[in-house]
Amino acid sequence: MPAVSETRVGVLISGRGSNMVSLIEAAAQPGYPADIVTVISNRPEAGGLKRAEDAGIDTVVIDHKTHADRASFDAALDAALEAAKVEIVCLAGFMRLLTTEFTEKWRGRMINIHPALLPSFRGLHTHERALEAGVKIHGCTVHFVTPEMDVGPIIMQAAVPVLEGDTPELLSARVLAQEHIIYPAALRLVCEGRARIEGERVAVDEFEVADRALVVPGV
Ligand code: GRF
Repeated sequence: MPAVSETRVGVLISGRGSNMVSLIEAAAQPGYPADIVTVISNRPEAGGLKRAEDAGIDTVVIDHKTHADRASFDAALDAALEAAKVEIVCLAGFMRLLTTEFTEKWRGRMINIHPALLPSFRGLHTHERALEAGVKIHGCTVHFVTPEMDVGPIIMQAAVPVLEGDTPELLSARVLAQEHIIYPAALRLVCEGRARIEGERVAVDEFEVADRALVVPGV
């Protein structure tokens, strides 16, 4: 049985779910302040569904193709989250734009992981675009979700070097390893109430450098 103080977390996915697995594994550790109570996918074929089931987590499929519009899809999503008594929502490779109504309802209680150092490279194909731009540092960001995509207050970032000869695949793998570290770390801060939104920024109580930034050598 989870401790009474654990925050009920719902994870939304669309694909393989490796970030979801990092959250499930973190939540299984003693003392971690979250309980992953549901995994919801908008795609029935998402590989992450089986990984969640294997971990004993309840899964729900809400196929966006069976909904006439975004509003009705988001209403179904919201109903599933409420049914599971979710307190915090984690987007983990969830590839649907959400309505303003939905994001406003969950404002301050919904976070996302983005594979770039925001505010650079919002949107898709971040690793290709980082290579094209010739940046020397790339990385990932966990942020609160607001109606505008990939814009909300930043909770935590990790940086990696861009190396000579990198391909999108190599860079993606280097960034993904860091995603799996900072997403559970950022969720912990949120569940513990230590990540406070102040305007456009997040203030982290009891700040430690390792809580906010990480630069790792390339491999
Ligand atoms: C990750 O790179 C995440 O940052 C992005 O989509 C990808 C999802 O990968 N939003 P996974 O499904 O968590 O393995």
